Amino acid sequence: MKLLLLGSGGREHALAWKIAQSPKIEKLYIAPGNAGTGSVGENVNMEVDDFSSIKAFVLNNNINMVVVGPEDPLVKGLYDYFQNDLTLVHIPVIGPSQRGATLEGSKEFAKEFMFRHNIPTAGYKSITAANLQDGLDFLDSLQAPYVLKADGLCAGKGVLILPTLDEAKKELQEMLSGMFGDASATVVIEEFLSGIECSVFVLTDGKNYKILPVAKDYKRIGEGDKGLNTGGMGSVSPVPFADEFWMKKVDERIIRPTINGLAEEGIVYKGFIFLGLINVNGEPMTIEYNVRMGDPETESVMLRVKSDLVELFEGVAAGNLNEKTIEEDPRTAVSVMLVSGGYPEHYKKGFPISGLELVKDSLVFHAGTTFKDNQIVTNGGRVLAISSYGNTKEEALAQSFSGAEMIDFEKKYFRSDIGFDL
Ligand code: AMP
Ligand code: GLY
Repeated sequence: MKLLLLGSGGREHALAWKIAQSPKIEKLYIAPGNAGTGSVGENVNMEVDDFSSIKAFVLNNNINMVVVGPEDPLVKGLYDYFQNDLTLVHIPVIGPSQRGATLEGSKEFAKEFMFRHNIPTAGYKSITAANLQDGLDFLDSLQAPYVLKADGLCAGKGVLILPTLDEAKKELQEMLSGMFGDASATVVIEEFLSGIECSVFVLTDGKNYKILPVAKDYKRIGEGDKGLNTGGMGSVSPVPFADEFWMKKVDERIIRPTINGLAEEGIVYKGFIFLGLINVNGEPMTIEYNVRMGDPETESVMLRVKSDLVELFEGVAAGNLNEKTIEEDPRTAVSVMLVSGGYPEHYKKGFPISGLELVKDSLVFHAGTTFKDNQIVTNGGRVLAISSYGNTKEEALAQSFSGAEMIDFEKKYFRSDIGFDL
């Protein structure tokens, strides 16, 4: 088949790497892709939310399936766009409908959904300028620290965790008066949950589902998970505390009620669900939903999926995912991100990258790279994900760190403590 994958990050390079291994693939296109995806498929110069160009490309190139990497096109309704077009309706899109994508697109919608279906999550109140006083009163009733979330998409920046009540009240008012534009016209205030987090990925056809290998990501820029939030500095799979016993609770209390809840409410969902979970004294609680795979979790999770991913996607499209299996590689996989110095604040792009050919025992997934004058150069904050297998976490990390040392570009930075808390 001919498959079009949308996106341009490390997640998409890892997905493309895995998809390209399927014997079912005749041709893989990635739009817009990066310097790495071009080595496993053909890059197409097209933006992920340019629906009319996507339509033209799909029809002109006889594409049989579209796989969506990032949330943006899903939240904008790409699935529905295909469903509502007679020339596209027969081409499966792996990703939820626009309503399904609201699980990520609106924190308020996600919390209401969880409460309707008794899915364990932190208590909350949803606040707008009209009921600000309720918000201030709710904050008074909580204990520090305080969690404030912009309702809408903010590229991972819309969550504030504040140590004092005064700061929380001040920031609540700032958020409501447009700190994140329209995205924070509604703010969700949540109880703070204390525990260790992990990322659980589920692939569903809307009725049946399969759980992918569990991973943990490292979001802060600094060692010991300190400093500013980033898109993600590394990941590890599996996660020791997410053992069979814990995952049974996750399945019974969170995954099944989520899938059943979507079906009951008539929300069409054929794609990945990413559950951001936290382990509170042995009990799994839901922090958030995302409607896509995680980045950089995908850069370790794909290493551990032994089954043919395209066959699983066919199961999603046909609604017979129950007839498919996901076989996991028992080894550990890790991914270490090389980022541009200055990230997640100001950084420069366009630095030549050297040493890529020296890395033999890791997979180097490109995140922010491009070609300039026939040379691969940096093109983003997160530049490369160095992914490795090992019989232990330590073995896999040693491999990735060795790769991280061989590759060079000006102002390269990476965290050398990925996995420290597991
Ligand atoms: P989110 O975008 O909802 O995943 O939030 C970003 C990060 O904020 C999460 O990964 C958690 O580390 C933290 N966080 C969000 N909600 C809570 C909560 N209720 N309690 C504690 N930490 C939270
Ligand atoms: N690694 C977290 C995310 O993709 O949102």
